[in-house]
Amino acid sequence: MIAFNDGNRIPQLGFGVFQIEPKDTARAVGTALEVGYRHIDTAEMYGNEAEVGQAIRAAGLDRGEVFVTSKLNNGFHRPDDARRAFESTLQALKFDYLDLFLIHWPLPTRYDGDFVSTWKVLEEFQRDGRAKSIGVSNFQVPHLQRLAAEAELTPAVNQVEAHPYFGNDEVRAYGATHNILTQAWSPIAQGRVLDDPTIVDIADEVGRTPAQVVLRWHVQRGDIVFPKSTTPKRVEENFQIFDFELDDATMDRIRSLDRGEDGRQGPNPDTFDYVPS
Ligand SMILES: NC(=O)c1ccc[n+]([C@@H]2O[C@H](COP(=O)([O-])OP(=O)(O)OC[C@H]3O[C@@H](n4cnc5c(N)ncnc54)[C@H](OP(=O)(O)O)[C@@H]3O)[C@@H](O)[C@H]2O)c1
Repeated sequence: MIAFNDGNRIPQLGFGVFQIEPKDTARAVGTALEVGYRHIDTAEMYGNEAEVGQAIRAAGLDRGEVFVTSKLNNGFHRPDDARRAFESTLQALKFDYLDLFLIHWPLPTRYDGDFVSTWKVLEEFQRDGRAKSIGVSNFQVPHLQRLAAEAELTPAVNQVEAHPYFGNDEVRAYGATHNILTQAWSPIAQGRVLDDPTIVDIADEVGRTPAQVVLRWHVQRGDIVFPKSTTPKRVEENFQIFDFELDDATMDRIRSLDRGEDGRQGPNPDTFDYVPS
């Protein structure tokens, strides 16, 4: 568990459900909970919040035993829309609170560039207790600086793309110096880093799988990760990363794979403006 700037705590390793079909979600989350994951990362945009809630209830776990994150979809940044969307997220999950609620994307080219009033609505959710913690996703340094200047609360986390091909170190460093934890999305670059020769060599050297090596690298960097898999064997494999360590030289070898902006696999948050219809 690691602590947020608001005192709440999150399991550093979780399970992500992006691109899991609703019909497959309850089974996938059920497998993850059986293996021992106690942190699930979903979003309104993924269309599977209801099935995440279902799987947690079906596992017979108390609400307080599982840390659940969801995110505000891009069409709902206006304050009243954000309030309605948050309510729908709680209803879909059948929860009376979320552990963490995020603005999914900053969308600086939409809503007249105003993500600050959206953030202030998330501050309301934290104040009224329906979101234990609040944070952002895909925020770049200037976006975070703007929140620092114009809002009251500091995001608990910034969830951004990060993996060996795209270290995203400038954004991570801002977080580290401003009490904002980094959550690394697509931590294994959706599988693309797993046959990298350096990663494969390291995996051989330490006697672990490439995915375990990369996930362990993230955890040692201090980031929070939630790899996605619908393959039970991999769900289990990805959970076994707390019984070995990478030394400093190995950490550096993985860091040297960083390709800067060229390594980014997902959209650039400065220009991404997708709003689902
Ligand atoms: N905030 C955002 O904008 C944002 C964007 C993207 C993702 N996310 C979050 O981050 C989570 C993780 O990212 P992601 O789903 O994009 O990608 P990821 O976790 O980096 O990779 C998932 C892919 O890797 C495969 N895989 C998983 N474990 C493996 C293993 N041990 N060996 C070989 N292959 C393995 C999976 O295949 P199978 O499923 O077929 O096993 C799947 O194709 C998401 O689920 C979501 O919660 C957030």
